[in-house]
Amino acid sequence: MKKSVLITLAMAFFVSITSTAQSNRADYRVVPLPSAINGIKSNDFKLTEQSLVNYPKGNRDMERNAMMLSGYVEEMTGIHLSTRPCSDTKERPGNITLMLDETINGDEAYTITVTAKGVEISGKTPAGVFQGIQTLRKSLPVGITSVVNLPAAQVSSSPRFGYRGMHLDCVRHFFPVSTVKHYIDMMALHGMNRLHWHLTDDQGWRVEIKQYPRLTEVGGWRKGTVLGHNSPVNDGIRYGGYYTQEEIRDIVSYAAERYIDIIPEIDMPGHMLGALTAYPELGCTGGPYEVWCQWGVTDDILCVGKDQTLQFVKNVLDEVMQMFPSEYIHIGGDESPRVRWQECPLCQQRIKQVGIVAEQGKSPEALLQGWFTGEIQKYLSQHGKRIIGWDELLGCNVSTSATIMSWTGAEPGAKGAKLGHDVIMTPNTPMYFDHYQTKSTWNEPMAFGGCATLKMVYDFEPVAADLPADKRHHIIGAQANLWTEYVTCEPQIDYQVLPRMAALAELQWLQPDQKDYNDFKARLPRLVEIYKLYNWTYRAKSLVLENEDKPQN
Ligand code: ACM
Ligand code: ZN
Repeated sequence: MKKSVLITLAMAFFVSITSTAQSNRADYRVVPLPSAINGIKSNDFKLTEQSLVNYPKGNRDMERNAMMLSGYVEEMTGIHLSTRPCSDTKERPGNITLMLDETINGDEAYTITVTAKGVEISGKTPAGVFQGIQTLRKSLPVGITSVVNLPAAQVSSSPRFGYRGMHLDCVRHFFPVSTVKHYIDMMALHGMNRLHWHLTDDQGWRVEIKQYPRLTEVGGWRKGTVLGHNSPVNDGIRYGGYYTQEEIRDIVSYAAERYIDIIPEIDMPGHMLGALTAYPELGCTGGPYEVWCQWGVTDDILCVGKDQTLQFVKNVLDEVMQMFPSEYIHIGGDESPRVRWQECPLCQQRIKQVGIVAEQGKSPEALLQGWFTGEIQKYLSQHGKRIIGWDELLGCNVSTSATIMSWTGAEPGAKGAKLGHDVIMTPNTPMYFDHYQTKSTWNEPMAFGGCATLKMVYDFEPVAADLPADKRHHIIGAQANLWTEYVTCEPQIDYQVLPRMAALAELQWLQPDQKDYNDFKARLPRLVEIYKLYNWTYRAKSLVLENEDKPQN
């Protein structure tokens, strides 16, 4: 054999050894980046089939955490780990131990300690331990192996925001239970804890309410779906569906096992054509109405002059509260034109009856929406619930105990916080993930419009620079919204949210001075390996193209 061939073979062998060694090593620089990664003087921990996952005996949440970790490790590496209940927290060499530690600051904070002897994942609560499990999971190499080397280190983190959300619209298009669970899986991987689930709108009613069966029998179906951006053409295909209460309970508990609260949105008094079609007597004109086949904002909204409407809403919410244990219920409040109310004798009578007087910049009808929201808020608070509403509520004099979701921009969020509302920041640019991910849209699946690149999402700062220090705590979190007018199936959901969800996760977890876009981009390919492992669709171009906020050739 020629010398050069021998050298080439030797080099290939060397490269294959080093790359195998390399790929069997965990890397804690995941997305979102933990706030501290400190090396410890010790050899690597060797994770093998012999390693057990210990958890505190009798703690069901920690037992489930242990099972989840074991499942993740097997998916990532093929290594099967058994789980074992332990009645004490004595060191057990060779194993991973999940522990609760009261001294950890923050309910979702975690610490992972790795030495040659073992791995400890501790949190103040099982939710914190679960976040540590996600970080450990993401640090593992993807690929079948018999051993993973975990470098000795202490890794810890605590999220910047308590509310780390994603929204999903299951009205404009309806997705099966399996897709909603898949969305929850993606959220868990990205360290998120609130799913805002948009369940009712003009184009369909998607939640079974036993007292009002027509909501789903009639209101859950439209005669067709408009083509394109509200073209004159409709596909004429009956479209719809809904979740039974049993399915909802199943999804809620699936999410709870991953420490994700589901906040249902029952949008009112606007975006109610689904309900009005089923029960036309709830509208100002009495109908007839038709579940909408197009997108946009309709003038037909609930008639709040009728006591019957208030009773309807309360009855619906009674069942919603039974399905969703979440502290919050989202009551919408966006895009409610008041033209019908201006002409409706009953709505006008209500304005007089409750003593509404117009204020500067606020019509009586705007204040009527505030009155209606207040009634619903009182009802929900009697049941221990709090409301979230879209930022239009700021124009209706609602009580500051309502949490505001800032969507028309970032300014309403700052305004709401100054007034004393808690605020969740979800300004349409860049937090609407139904928007395009690039300015050059010619080669993209049809989207709503707009542009929210990966970098724009990453760079978004939820707390306005000029927000006074004593108001900053009112910004309780950030969320991205996925409206689905143009999103029809699971791969398209994934394409819209991945990898933007990764950028969102980083801004939800990291303090602003810890963020570094280039460093994030360098860590992202390893997260994408996990997307690939699960066959999740993602926008690959976002990993390589830059300056997509400018039109490209
Ligand atoms: C919204 O996008 N209408 C909240
Ligand atoms: Zn009316």
